[in-house]
Amino acid sequence: MIGKIEPLGTSTGKILYNSHCQNILDLSVAETMEIFKSSGVILFRDFGVTPKQMKDFSEQFSGKHIIDFTKVSIDSDKYVNFVDGGMDGLIPHCENSCFPFRPDVIWFCCTVPAEQEGETLFWDGIRVWEELSQESKQLFLSKQLKFSYKNVPVDILKGIIGSNANTIDDIKQRLDSVDGVSYQFNDDKTVSVEYTCSSVVNNKYNHQNAFANHFWVYQKRTEEAIFDDGSRASDEVADEIERIFDKLTEKIPWKAGDLVMMDNSRFLHGRGAFTDNRRQVFTTLSNLKF
Ligand SMILES: [Fe+2]
Repeated sequence: MIGKIEPLGTSTGKILYNSHCQNILDLSVAETMEIFKSSGVILFRDFGVTPKQMKDFSEQFSGKHIIDFTKVSIDSDKYVNFVDGGMDGLIPHCENSCFPFRPDVIWFCCTVPAEQEGETLFWDGIRVWEELSQESKQLFLSKQLKFSYKNVPVDILKGIIGSNANTIDDIKQRLDSVDGVSYQFNDDKTVSVEYTCSSVVNNKYNHQNAFANHFWVYQKRTEEAIFDDGSRASDEVADEIERIFDKLTEKIPWKAGDLVMMDNSRFLHGRGAFTDNRRQVFTTLSNLKF
């Protein structure tokens, strides 16, 4: 049974309250999925969720979990991680969208919120896309994003791909299954991978375009080319996107025990800076089976 539901900020997201003293694991998966499909973000409040329960709950919705080798894990499977270290702000991105195996969902849970600030921030990629000028839409539709990785150790690649990729042939098969991937196995047990993808994702639940990608991190934090023709976006386009992100920023005002389920093919997330080093937020990444 689903209890009280409220809007999450001004987004399509919902806050789903524990109105019946339920265990999070007793929530209806079918009803929760229906809310998720239309809202894209659910904050489950007052369920007192632990990182272990986040993993168990997410399993009910997921065909597969994905190891995040960029973070520190807290479980033996390496599926539950501390969020990015540090206390600085993080700019909008979709999790692992610069890699060929982007998870469908990023799950967050908070055991200790920062005393002040430190909210997880999020942006609806559908609204970002709607706000972009026709010129910028044309730019992002006509050029692909390109990400290059040199000499990735085979063992790390296995972890990203999943536990059933045991042999080189398994890895090749998985890489071949993703559009836009080219790769080369090197003599030193590493692989060089290039991944090209659109910055615009057609959301599978409502079939609308979403600006849901890793573009902003590369544009803001590097001098590297981001498009497959070797170019970067102009300062005018960057200014336009920054204005849109500023306008559309939504916040998750953490309480201890909160759980968040976020559509990683539609929503970008980030973080506000904070100074309270007791803040504890965890994530797990998965692909949905629905
Ligand atoms: Fe992230």
